[in-house]
Amino acid sequence: MVRLDKFLCDCGVGTRSQVKDILKSGRVSVDGKVERDGSRKIDADTQTVTLDGESLNCRGRVVVMLNKPAGYVTATEDKNDPTVMELLPEAYKHLELKPVGRLDKATEGLLLFTNDGDLLHRLISPKKEVPKRYYARHEGAAGPEDIAAFAEGLVLGDGTKCLPAKLEIAGPGESFVTVCEGKYHQVRRMLACRGLPVTYLERRQEGEITLGDLPRGQVRELTEAEISTLL
Ligand code: URA
Repeated sequence: MVRLDKFLCDCGVGTRSQVKDILKSGRVSVDGKVERDGSRKIDADTQTVTLDGESLNCRGRVVVMLNKPAGYVTATEDKNDPTVMELLPEAYKHLELKPVGRLDKATEGLLLFTNDGDLLHRLISPKKEVPKRYYARHEGAAGPEDIAAFAEGLVLGDGTKCLPAKLEIAGPGESFVTVCEGKYHQVRRMLACRGLPVTYLERRQEGEITLGDLPRGQVRELTEAEISTLL
């Protein structure tokens, strides 16, 4: 818990005396209610503090990973389906985190979120896309000719050209696929065009970041060292 006036100073809203005036003028709200008392203690992790209606975040850059379960769409809002935003714990709700790229509703595994717009654009920019590794179960069995076709760069049924990608055979009907781009339904379409339709897909790794033992549906924050590997 921290005093509201200290929180506002730490967020760079102004000096102590400016913050006093700002509070007096009723521009600050805590959880939707105007608060003028700077000595009031707040919990910056769970409470939302706004200045002129804009929520304040003192935490700077935050990156979290979710182990996404199937059944959730990667969107901030959706009329029909639950969204990945609903899986973020209360403490992260006011940080305005955005998903980095997307996973299909049926796909499970590693999904990053950040409140840092520059980092987000960097991670999804086609020029800088980090390698993403997926585990897939599929019908049929992949062979050396599929590995070669992936390495060459597949052309999908509709003419879409894919960058060279890596296919590793994990067992009969099981493969790992590593891609450096994020086209719509990319891994499913790549395997399908080789006659290997996907029955299960999970993202395991993005750059150096791996899911590790994070349980399905759970979230954890990336450390600064992990974040620096993405930069
Ligand atoms: N490729 C897909 O086909 N689906 C995903 O969710 C991610 C990559």
